[in-house]
Amino acid sequence: MANPTGQRVDPGVLRTWGTELLRKLGVPVNQAELVMDSLIDADLRGTYSHGSRLLVTYAPRVRAGHLASDTKVTVVRDVGAMALLDGGLGFGQIAAYQAVDLAAEKALTAGVAVVAVRETTHFGALGYFTARAARRGLLAIAAQNGPPMVPAFGGVTPLFATNPFSYAAPVANQDPLIFDIATTAVAGNKLQQVLARGETTIPNGWMTDREGRPTRDTLAATQGFLQWAGGHKGYGLGLLVETLAGVLADAPFGTAEHTRSPVSGRGRLAKGGTFVAIDPSVLLPEGVFAERMEALLAEVRSSVPAAGVDRVMAPGDLERELRDEQLRQGICLELSTVEQLSSLAVDLGVRTLQTA
Ligand SMILES: NC(=O)c1ccc[n+]([C@@H]2O[C@H](COP(=O)([O-])OP(=O)(O)OC[C@H]3O[C@@H](n4cnc5c(N)ncnc54)[C@H](O)[C@@H]3O)[C@@H](O)[C@H]2O)c1
Repeated sequence: MANPTGQRVDPGVLRTWGTELLRKLGVPVNQAELVMDSLIDADLRGTYSHGSRLLVTYAPRVRAGHLASDTKVTVVRDVGAMALLDGGLGFGQIAAYQAVDLAAEKALTAGVAVVAVRETTHFGALGYFTARAARRGLLAIAAQNGPPMVPAFGGVTPLFATNPFSYAAPVANQDPLIFDIATTAVAGNKLQQVLARGETTIPNGWMTDREGRPTRDTLAATQGFLQWAGGHKGYGLGLLVETLAGVLADAPFGTAEHTRSPVSGRGRLAKGGTFVAIDPSVLLPEGVFAERMEALLAEVRSSVPAAGVDRVMAPGDLERELRDEQLRQGICLELSTVEQLSSLAVDLGVRTLQTA
C-alpha cells in the first residue's frame, strides 16, 4: 500500500514541521500537536487521503476565517450517558478527541454512552478516534456526515457526503480491531489524489457521470457523483450515518444547513459527528470480551484463502503492518503531496519539509 513513487519523510520531522505550520495559522500548540498526531497516524496507516495532505485543505479555510484556528468546544447538553457538544466550527479533530473521551468516560460508568457533536468540521480518519476508545477496553462506533454531494441510491440529487463510519474493538494481546470506511465506494479525497496525479481514468465502481451512469473517465467523474459501497447496502448505512451524525447531533443533514457557518451547500464545512461507546465488561466478566475477540480474529486470519487470495485478514491488519514499516522507514508521501505541502510552506513563510 505504500506509495511506490513516494518520498520518505521521518514521522517525527513531519510532526514538528506540521505543528509549526499550524502554529503559523494561529492554532494553539497543544491543539496543533493533537491535529498532527491524528494526521500522521493516517499517513502511517496508508490512509494518505486523510493524512498530512489535509493541511493543504485546512489552511485556506483558516485563512478565510471559516475554520476557527483556536477550537473552543462547549457542552450543549450533558444528561446521564448522553451529551451534545458544540465544536465551535474549529478543527474537527479537537472536537472528536473531546467527544470520544467523554463517551469513553461515560461508558465506563454507565456501560454505554452516546456523545454527539454539532458545529464541527472534518474529523479526518475516524478510525484514529474509535481506536482511542478501544484502547480503554471499549467497543466504539463513530459516524460523521458532511455537505450534500452524493445522491440517494438511484437518484442524481446530491444530498449526502461520503458519510464515514468506523468501529473499533479491544483484542487481547494485540492492537484493537479497527474498521474505518467511507460508506461510498471510496472517500472523496481519493478522487482529489487521482486528479493531483494527473490520471485520466479511475477504477470501476467509484463514480457516475452527472446523469448517474457509471464512468471510469476522471473528467466525467468530476462532474458526477460517488457511488455507494455495495449499492443500496452502503446507501442504507450512509443514511444511518446521516441520522446519527446529522439529525441526532443537531447538525446539518441533507440540504438543511442548521449551522452558524456562512459556507453552505456543496462547499459546506459544518459537519456533525457521533460517537457510541460500549463497555463489554458490563455483560461479560472483565477481559473476556477482548479474549474472545482474539479467538475470533485468530479464526478469521487462519481461514482458508479463496482462489487467488494470499491470506485472509481482519480489518486494520494491512494498515497496522504498513504503520510498522513506515515507523521504521519513514512515511512514503506521494510526490504531489510533498509538492503541495512545500508550496503551502512557502506561502506561509515556514521552512520547507525535509524529505529523505
Ligand atoms: N471525516 C470525514 O468526513 C471522512 C469522509 C470520508 C472518509 N473519511 C475517511 O477516509 C478513510 C478512507 O476511507 P475508504 O472508504 O476510502 O477506505 P477503504 O476503502 O480503503 O477501506 C478501509 C477499511 O477496509 C479494511 N480493509 C481493506 N481491505 C481489507 C481486506 N482485504 N480484508 C479486511 N479488511 C480490509 C481496512 O482495514 C479499513 O478498515 C477512512 O479513514 C475514513 O474515516 C473521512
